[in-house]
Amino acid sequence: MKGVVLAGGLGTRLLPLTKITNKHLLPVYNEPMIYFPLRTLVDAGIREILLVTGGQNAGDFLRLLGNGEAFGLRLLNYAYQAGEGGIADALRLAEPFADGEPICVILGDNIIEKPIGHIVDEVRKKPDGAHIILKEVHDPSRFGVPVFEGGKQTGRITRIEEKPADPQSNFAVIGIYFYDASVFERIKTLVPSGRGELEITDLNNSYLTEGKLTHSLLDGWWTDAGTFESLRAASNLVAESVEALQAAGNTPALK
Ligand code: DAU
Repeated sequence: MKGVVLAGGLGTRLLPLTKITNKHLLPVYNEPMIYFPLRTLVDAGIREILLVTGGQNAGDFLRLLGNGEAFGLRLLNYAYQAGEGGIADALRLAEPFADGEPICVILGDNIIEKPIGHIVDEVRKKPDGAHIILKEVHDPSRFGVPVFEGGKQTGRITRIEEKPADPQSNFAVIGIYFYDASVFERIKTLVPSGRGELEITDLNNSYLTEGKLTHSLLDGWWTDAGTFESLRAASNLVAESVEALQAAGNTPALK
């Protein structure tokens, strides 16, 4: 399985912090934001990784990450997204990299506490389809939200709604997705949403309507870091994790 980190977009919700740099280069406690999704993929055993970025500061990723040596990689692949066409538009650029193989996609502003290697191992066994990960949250209307059959909080998902004003469950679809090789043909059928973007939720719903979307629940904390509130929460959560590791005598090496 290959990995794709999506770190394009304009980060307008973090202006003026993102006026002269890319959102994913901002600090989350003691490391640049982009380190976290990269490490999530590497820790899950994924070694072939593409980073999609864009904007004025794309060269800074190369200066920061190089070939990914600090993460134990031999090579890091890069792609450039012109404009801000949405998450599925950024993912479109991964087609030649994926080259027919299944992919694990992670959003560059998503940070999780615990490794997901066991989910990757399970998904590897699936012949085709897509897989999403859910986490219970207090503010579902900020995210993609699953609607469960019969209005329940568990069970079969009937559809996913993007940032619903009236969420039908307390779960968010987190920014880690698994897709089979059909993903790029599906992206070609998407149309821009009201906010002018190709939505990852529409992509996930295309698998769902064919009965080809499975899901699991995330263990440990999860946050995005794309708003001032969530960026602060991310820094606090990471700081607490680092302190807990240090208290246990395990001092993580800074790269
Ligand atoms: O964090 C999880 C949520 O991420 C999901 O629950 C939502 O369903 C999904 O739409 C997304 O919501 P956001 O509105 O928070 O996504 P945002 O526009 O902040 O983009 C998230 C990341 O995707 C961003 O850090 C980089 C990448 N991206 C985004 C856009 C719009 C790109 O690479 N290119 C883009 O054009």
